[in-house]
Amino acid sequence: HILRAPHHPAASIMVKNLTVFGAGLMGAGIAQVAAQNGFKVILSDVTEKACQNGLQIIQKSLGRVAKKKFAGKQDEMEGYTRQVMGNITTMTDAGEAVSSADLIIEAIIESIKIKRDLFGFLDGKASRGCIFASNTSSLSIKDIAEACSPERQARFGGLHFFNPVPAMKLVEVIKAEKTSQETYDTLVDVTKKMGKVPVNCKDTPGFIVNRLLIPYMLEAVRMAERGDATPHDIDTAMELGAGYPMGPFKLLDFVGLDTTSFISEGWREKADRGQIPKELVQKSAMLQKLVDEGKLGRKSGQGFYDYSSKL
Ligand code: 3HC
Repeated sequence: HILRAPHHPAASIMVKNLTVFGAGLMGAGIAQVAAQNGFKVILSDVTEKACQNGLQIIQKSLGRVAKKKFAGKQDEMEGYTRQVMGNITTMTDAGEAVSSADLIIEAIIESIKIKRDLFGFLDGKASRGCIFASNTSSLSIKDIAEACSPERQARFGGLHFFNPVPAMKLVEVIKAEKTSQETYDTLVDVTKKMGKVPVNCKDTPGFIVNRLLIPYMLEAVRMAERGDATPHDIDTAMELGAGYPMGPFKLLDFVGLDTTSFISEGWREKADRGQIPKELVQKSAMLQKLVDEGKLGRKSGQGFYDYSSKL
């Protein structure tokens, strides 16, 4: 008989200092939730203007959180907001931003080249023990991590948050081929400390949520294109018949038509290489037309619905 040692999960690393790259909606949301839960956060972007915009997104969202938490009691709300904002610093110098980071979360533009350039640079600047994580929604963690040294690739994983980050409880934690157990355990631990619920998924296109959501939203658009039903009726059907908080067209406008179109474009290339079924990501002329016209959803004031009065 062979005696096997009982399986002990590797101990996770203590994370106190977190650096978030990208001060857009996702990066700001991640920084906010981390700061609310006691992490010291540096929010970094290429320009001071982008950093300030990130802080504004956080201030606005924190206002909602504080109002709910303290039932509108002004002093307590202000104290809480000050304390959370006190955990956040902004920096435009990427090297300086990671000099004492235990964990880096990247939430910049969804470009493999730009992400690889950033991580390759940070690999030489961050401490040896620092863990790297990407919030990519559609790219392969392995492809991004390969910009770093083999040691760092063991300390590299995926942490995928959902919009709006302060409200959505889920985080997909991705263990890529080279991700060590210790790194994975640390990412799970950090996710829980942020008050989120982790799920595990392999390093596959779209992980769990987007792999199901993107084909669903694209089929909704093709359904409207075929004239089977109107966007409004499809939304009503999925909200009242399937209990979704937003129907697929409201969700497309919320996520951004450009984002969905961009992800599906990348996946069509993967489909050509046999990595994902072609039928899941068939092109939609209607979606393309709206993107070409700059109708990108809520953020541009117009998508499938008109938001111009709300801007
Ligand atoms: N900051 C802080 N809190 C927020 C917030 C924000 N920006 N947005 C919403 N909330 C909170 C509200 O305070 C409220 O909290 P409560 O229930 O405890 O009172 C709660 O969220 C619900 O908000 P509202 O009452 O204002 O509005 P709704 O009930 O309509 O919910 C919603 C809004 C949470 C956005 C809901 O419509 C929803 O869940 N929609 C679907 C969102 C979704 O599917 N996101 C995933 C997109 S895919 C993605 O992100 C992946 C990426 O890779 C593409």
